[in-house]
Amino acid sequence: MAVEPLPEIEARFSEGQVFPPDPAFAAQANAKQELYEEAERDFEGFWARLARERLDWSKPFDTTLEWELPFAKWFVGGELNVAYNCVDRHVKAGLGDKVAYHWIGEPGDTRTITYADLQREVAKAANALKELGVQRGDRVAIYMPMVPELPIAMLACARLGAAHTVVFGGFSAEALAGRIEDAQATLLITADGGWRRGAELRLKPAADEALDRSPSVENVLVVRRLGGDTPMRAGRDHWWHELVDRQSEDCPPVPVDSEEMLYLLYTSGTTARPKGIVHTSAGYLLGTSFTHEMIFDVKPDDVYWCAADIGWVTGHSYIVYGPLANATTGVMYEGAPDTPAWDRWWQIIEDYKVSILYCAPTAIRAFMKQGESWPQKHDLSSMRVLGSVGEPINPEAWLWYQEHIGGGRTPVVDTWWQTETGMILISPLPGVTTTKPGSATFPFPGIEADVVDGEGHSVPLGGGGYLVLKRPWPAMLRGIYGDPERYKETYWSRFPGMYFAGDGAKRDEGGYYWLLGRVDDVMNVSGHRISTIEVESALVDHKSVAEAAVVGKNDPVTGQAIFAFVTLKAGIEGSDELGRELRQHVTTVIGPMCRPKFLMFSPDLPKTRSGKIMRRLLRDIAEGRALGDTTTLADETVVDTIRANTGSAEE
Ligand code: PRX
Repeated sequence: MAVEPLPEIEARFSEGQVFPPDPAFAAQANAKQELYEEAERDFEGFWARLARERLDWSKPFDTTLEWELPFAKWFVGGELNVAYNCVDRHVKAGLGDKVAYHWIGEPGDTRTITYADLQREVAKAANALKELGVQRGDRVAIYMPMVPELPIAMLACARLGAAHTVVFGGFSAEALAGRIEDAQATLLITADGGWRRGAELRLKPAADEALDRSPSVENVLVVRRLGGDTPMRAGRDHWWHELVDRQSEDCPPVPVDSEEMLYLLYTSGTTARPKGIVHTSAGYLLGTSFTHEMIFDVKPDDVYWCAADIGWVTGHSYIVYGPLANATTGVMYEGAPDTPAWDRWWQIIEDYKVSILYCAPTAIRAFMKQGESWPQKHDLSSMRVLGSVGEPINPEAWLWYQEHIGGGRTPVVDTWWQTETGMILISPLPGVTTTKPGSATFPFPGIEADVVDGEGHSVPLGGGGYLVLKRPWPAMLRGIYGDPERYKETYWSRFPGMYFAGDGAKRDEGGYYWLLGRVDDVMNVSGHRISTIEVESALVDHKSVAEAAVVGKNDPVTGQAIFAFVTLKAGIEGSDELGRELRQHVTTVIGPMCRPKFLMFSPDLPKTRSGKIMRRLLRDIAEGRALGDTTTLADETVVDTIRANTGSAEE
């Protein structure tokens, strides 16, 4: 595994531009330097104190941490209910009229949901789930657009102690079916569809197709967002507005163990089979809510907007669980940033006086491309903190974000974490940390990270290597669903005793972490994590394809773009039309975000003598740069043939 630095970050690494905290901001900041010292003195004691202070327990825990590497249990013996902590306790404390979500539909319709509304809706939805036979320990699949019923459905599961598995609405029927099967979900909650770029995006047909292959699902609950014709299967499908609306508003939350599974979230790894990442209750809620309050400096009257989709971990942790546990007022927007025009987000910020924005560098770069005239049309003076997540942010985007969205005043927090980590692990603390554009700065208090070489030895400051974590943290994944061996193998075997994140990183002389991207066969396209092998198997699944190799090519907007090299079966000729057909096939098998942007037909692929495809050389070809070491190639002429090939079609 070679660490290939991102050229832009590499360049900025030595430039040393710094942004010390503004003293006025620091004076009111939630985070204080002392947190680091307290956590270092006794990290278990640190988390235990926070767990007692921040969460409402039905039964207090006896043991803070049981660590049998690599299996962690946090707050053992304790019992609580996550939905109660996110909703009911706030209503009890007199915050029933506080807005939980300002929801904005793409066509311009809006809904305001207070904490009291949320309590009623979650209780009713939970009662509906009960009527459909859902019990503690069951798995419920959720496949929905960004409508308020999505967090309500998640919280309804949590209220009953059932685990949800949310599948992003952009995934295909086939991908949904695979996840339902792995989770053995008994209920699917979906919607007729949602709005995207001014058009109706129908979800129910894909759900129906998936259900044909999902015998475990007994019932389907369907939210009506669009109206119009939606085929419903009698006995299986139930409308949300019929079943949920007639339920009682009384549904006592079920206390569950700290380690009860809260949810499963599937993510791409280095094989074609997605992994069901298991998150549990107490530690996860503590980790997400505490990081949320410290890193975004959230105050009771802030209006906070995380612009991710709830279908990804960012939405789980920082639209639903972390912010709700903190009784935050959030914005939830259904649609695309360019609909009806490229100032939609800035209009929302102005309308709702949003003070904290959290989004991906891909979005920032897309806005940059459209120019600053769009944000300039709007009053963005409410902004206080800006966050970035999902991929390395290049310094140019960081600076543009701060200047044009943050008015040159706001702190920018570049937050590094993963589906597996559950919570942010590397990030500045606004008001405390001096930031450097392009660096995620330092591990959060209580987190022990390191950069190691191929043998697992710590690399001195100034050097680069592999990012690892050396001690458990409360929101960490508890495993891969149903596959403890794969969990050990994937995360804990590369460097014994350490969690290997799959990312390369460098630390400068000041100890700042600079993330360098994935070092394995995982791409990051628009902040979406996509396995090269998953796309390859989708291509090979097509009748004309003999073999395929997929690499990520650097892209100025999406971070990486998918570049597919395809070898066709004997007698089949490559053509633009076949290229389109293959792209469509990938969309059908996995989803539109996995559609290759570049596709090259190639008579052969470069391989080692043992037959392994040399993706490193393909990356060189895709980037149009000089080839690295070719000595292990079985047949050196292959590369020349591919390079001579002019047929790389860009979409
Ligand atoms: O490569 C890192 C990148 O996103 C990966 C995790 O993807 P996912 O599980 O989908 O979660 C994304 C949202 C938390 C990481 O292995 N990544 C995430 N945040 C950053 C990042 N790379 C650089 N800088 C970040 N701030």
